[in-house]
Amino acid sequence: MGILQTVSEDKALLAATVCFGVVGAFFTAVKAFSFFKMILDVLVVPGISLSKFGAGKGSWAVITGASDGIGKEFASQLAKKKFNLLLVSRTESKLQALAKELEQAHGIQTKTYAMDFTRGNESDYSNLGQIINTIEVGVLVNNVGTNHDIPTPFDEESNETIANIVEVNINGTLKISKLVIPQMKARRSGLILNLGSFSGLVATPYLSVYSAGKAFLSTWSQALGSELAGDGIVVEHINTYFVVSAMSKIRRPTFMIPMPKPYVASVLAKIGVAGGSSVPFSSTPYLGHALFAWVIENLATTGFVVKQNYAMQKDIRRRALRKREREAQQGKKTE
Ligand SMILES: NC(=O)c1ccc[n+]([C@@H]2O[C@H](COP(=O)([O-])OP(=O)(O)OC[C@H]3O[C@@H](n4cnc5c(N)ncnc54)[C@H](OP(=O)(O)O)[C@@H]3O)[C@@H](O)[C@H]2O)c1
Ligand SMILES: *[C@@H]1O[C@H](CO)[C@@H](O)[C@H](O)[C@H]1NC(C)=O
Ligand SMILES: *[C@@H]1O[C@H](CO)[C@@H](O)[C@H](O)[C@H]1NC(C)=O
Ligand SMILES: *[C@@H]1O[C@H](CO)[C@@H](O)[C@H](O)[C@H]1NC(C)=O
Repeated sequence: MGILQTVSEDKALLAATVCFGVVGAFFTAVKAFSFFKMILDVLVVPGISLSKFGAGKGSWAVITGASDGIGKEFASQLAKKKFNLLLVSRTESKLQALAKELEQAHGIQTKTYAMDFTRGNESDYSNLGQIINTIEVGVLVNNVGTNHDIPTPFDEESNETIANIVEVNINGTLKISKLVIPQMKARRSGLILNLGSFSGLVATPYLSVYSAGKAFLSTWSQALGSELAGDGIVVEHINTYFVVSAMSKIRRPTFMIPMPKPYVASVLAKIGVAGGSSVPFSSTPYLGHALFAWVIENLATTGFVVKQNYAMQKDIRRRALRKREREAQQGKKTE
């Protein structure tokens, strides 16, 4: 009796071990496959060629926030691919200088339109619409974006900053897209890139409105991408971690934080390739970013990452406030 019981207990233990083993092996295999696919995407799989969107055939690229940072780099690299350019952002002088430089360097045509997206001025959008209707737009880069000045608790953030982020990052993107999509649909060809952020993938406390706005962009891209796929239009949300720029306030590149040039090159080389992103219609094409996105999506829980983000932003806020204090002191001294 005692022996029989031990045997059946051993059998149950064995069955349980095998069960867990099989489940564990399956789980590990799925993760290993997804990691392998991410590496393959980033290093090997080619993206859709930009010639599909009319590069070198008189087609235009419209870029918002084109006078600095990532947007300026999109302008340079799309000019190099022989797209004509419609450059839109706040500062006319910066737009003019860039347009002239790229015309001369690449023998393309350019147009510029200076507007402040925070104003939400209807006549700006209608003027822009009139320009857009005179050109064949092959590519739209919805890049313009604004952020909280420093990490700030939502209830302490100014109404103006909150309204500006909504107006620029959400309203502006929706309005410009609406101006461009009809002609892309009619020609059955087009590429729409929406500049997203890791803070839209997992919430970033103290950058609450920016973070939620980027989540909006990700969800909207999935819906829009599905709607327009049958019309020959590629919609892609670019899931971006830090890049060296005025907005990120980061000046030196690292493995994880590239300069705009290699970053934009990776985006344009990988159109339609997921890279490190597991979200549909979304791409994380840069190696350092892709590895990090994979870890966030596969090895961490969302709750854990939100907590990490919160700790990081609290620290950035503490340092930013100290810097403001120092500057205020210095201001007093020089008065
Ligand atoms: N840098 C990062 O680490 C990072 C990470 C994730 C996502 N992103 C996203 O990437 C995009 C570009 O960011 P970035 O880092 O390249 O920013 P940036 O260097 O600060 O450049 C922003 C560009 O947008 C223009 N702009 C800003 N506010 C505007 C307004 N109210 N009206 C018109 N134009 C305006 C600026 O024009 P002026 O030259 O006239 O100022 C500039 O050309 C944003 O959507 C951002 O959210 C950036
Ligand atoms: C809107 O923009 C137009 C054209 O740039 C300008 O003439 C007009 O004064 C602006 N209106 C407001 C209310 O800012
Ligand atoms: C900000 O907006 C809220 C309502 O949206 C209002 O109650 C509050 O007075 C505003 N604050 C300032 C400083 O204007
Ligand atoms: C954004 O667009 C909506 C709808 O057009 C409008 O009601 C709102 O005032 C705009 N601006 C902001 C900051 O929400």
